[in-house]
Amino acid sequence: MTTEIEGRELTQVGPGTVMGELMRQYWIPAALSSELLPGAAPVRLMLLGEKLIAFRDSAGRIGVMDHRCPHRCASLFLGRNEEGGIRCIYHGWKFDIAGNCVDMPSVPPYQDFKHKVKAKAYQAVERAGLVWVYMGPHARVPQLPGLEILDMPEEEIRVSLIQRDCNYLQALEGEIDTSHFGFLHAGHVDPDDISDDEPLRHTVTIRAPEYHVVDTAWGTQYGAYRAAGADLIYWRFANFLFPFWTQAPNGEFGSHVHARAWVPLDDSHTMFCYLWWKRGVSSMTLPQPVLRDGTPIGGAGRGNKFLPNTTEWLGRWRLAANASNDWGIDRAAQHSNAIYSGIDGIHLQDQAITESMGPITDHKFEHLAPSDQMITRTRRRLLMAARALRDRDVLPPGVGDPEVFRGARSGYFVSDDQSTWQEIYAKRLATSLRPPPPPPSTAG
Ligand code: FES
Ligand SMILES: [Fe+2]
Repeated sequence: MTTEIEGRELTQVGPGTVMGELMRQYWIPAALSSELLPGAAPVRLMLLGEKLIAFRDSAGRIGVMDHRCPHRCASLFLGRNEEGGIRCIYHGWKFDIAGNCVDMPSVPPYQDFKHKVKAKAYQAVERAGLVWVYMGPHARVPQLPGLEILDMPEEEIRVSLIQRDCNYLQALEGEIDTSHFGFLHAGHVDPDDISDDEPLRHTVTIRAPEYHVVDTAWGTQYGAYRAAGADLIYWRFANFLFPFWTQAPNGEFGSHVHARAWVPLDDSHTMFCYLWWKRGVSSMTLPQPVLRDGTPIGGAGRGNKFLPNTTEWLGRWRLAANASNDWGIDRAAQHSNAIYSGIDGIHLQDQAITESMGPITDHKFEHLAPSDQMITRTRRRLLMAARALRDRDVLPPGVGDPEVFRGARSGYFVSDDQSTWQEIYAKRLATSLRPPPPPPSTAG
């Protein structure tokens, strides 16, 4: 079980918190590159409980900084994005993307002390259509994580952002909670109604999977297994990767190159950031699954309807279905079992469930089951790493050795291999499609 203290340490992400400091050791995907246009208005960006602004200067470089002007704390969100920097509209001080004060026009020249003033700026880089921000110590800026999706050609990577109104941990745990699939997403699906070659068939034939779980160099991993006919096993591998990434088994293992981040905006809001390879075989690239007779499986839609983005701190990439409208739950569809949950859309079902737990799950109220061992182990792995950093300055996984992430792959396959589960994983990975060798890093 998770104690109250552990729960607090796991879920709080602001400056000076145990988990917040762990997360500040890594590059964080924070916005789409396309959200920041040269010379355009700054964007309000909440990240790890800090109110920041992001802008692209006239030279195309990204600036990310505390929204408060270091003079008298007016918000630089209101600032003018001018040639080579942002100018505060209160007294006209101007800052470049590194936070240097480059103009102090409200002070007579002989009293000018601009070389002594700095806005609190964070480093930013762009990769895979995303702006990545580093909020940790200047003395040890790491490389970008060695996720295999980042090795793919940029034009073959797809990205999407969706905000979720709850703590990052419960959102992330929804992804590594394998036993929910046969209920929340597919409780209404009769295995006899789907064709033999549809992978979903295995999931709904045995709804209480058994699985192995282990600590890995990049975080944690599970391998869920189900009998799939004579001497055959249907495997589903999935990963947690430090500090907030997951890889779900929603694609064919051999080509399922992807990564999913659960970026804490603050303690009760999370940005889901999904990168996937457009040539991989996965739920993002396959058509919606159908029954044997060709009709689509109810509730398994893939589209998401968004509210218009606003300039508010938490106004980006919100879904139209949310707690205020009960996520659009259709009680008739639930009652008739057309859709087990009554909620239409795989992502929305996960979103509704994790948001329904409240802003931060009360861990004292839980009763974790043997089927939750991946969740238990992942919490422990996160806590131990965060405490080791706090108490002994031990770098957490992947910070000094970002290549460990390249060993993580998720997905499903059927196998007759009788080796151990970790040998089966290693063999499959060795014969899978891998990205080309990584290009030289642009960060760190
Ligand atoms: S508060 Fe920004 S220049 Fe004075
Ligand atoms: Fe799910």
